[in-house]
Amino acid sequence: MLMKKREFIKGMGLAVIALFLPKRARALEYYPNPSEKKWAILYGTWCGSTRDASLWISEGMDGIANVFDVRENPDLSGYDHVVIGGAIRANVTSQELQNYIKKNATILKSRLRGYFAVCGNMMQPVGPEQTKTFIDNHLALLAGVSNLPSQVFRGRITFGLMEPDVRKQMEGMKMPEYDNLKRSECMTFGKELLKKA
Ligand SMILES: Cc1cc2nc3c(=O)[nH]c(=O)nc-3n(C[C@H](O)[C@H](O)[C@H](O)COP(=O)(O)O)c2cc1C
Repeated sequence: MLMKKREFIKGMGLAVIALFLPKRARALEYYPNPSEKKWAILYGTWCGSTRDASLWISEGMDGIANVFDVRENPDLSGYDHVVIGGAIRANVTSQELQNYIKKNATILKSRLRGYFAVCGNMMQPVGPEQTKTFIDNHLALLAGVSNLPSQVFRGRITFGLMEPDVRKQMEGMKMPEYDNLKRSECMTFGKELLKKA
């Protein structure tokens, strides 16, 4: 009886401690499949299309990559392979992503396996010019690692997700809402990255 009481008290104590553990330690990591190598996809977004692209890239890798918003400020030193992608506004990725890449350049250098960008490109098809602007002369320059596999995707415009002033500006320009992000293209890129690494 005494033993049972002791165990009960011990159990309660552990439960109370668990309540105070930082949330991140208890967060569900969504890997459907195990992997020998650890992959991370890091993204910067305003309205979420780049988050979706990241998840679909991971899906193309059979879900083995952990996907991080740069605002989580993740420690990527425990990963073997890292892919970086950013949404584009005024021809560049978010300041948070740029700062993170510069600050973590040493950790990233040996781990970087690919880049991607998600842009609107005025609803026109993307080509080598966008790769040059968003990847070669931007992400690769910031990280100091060039000639990696890369892709520029076209994303979405959703007024309801924008900051009020940005929404007003976009609506004022008569910019329509659109959705050009393709899950299949993101998945194909994920498969390519996995094959090349
Ligand atoms: C304020 C603003 C500026 C943008 N600037 C560009 C740009 O310079 N070049 C471009 O191709 N797309 C531009 N876009 C389109 C976005 O890149 C596109 O909507 C993308 O899907 C946004 O990604 P996110 O949903 O992850 O934030 C802009 C969009 C907004 C709202």
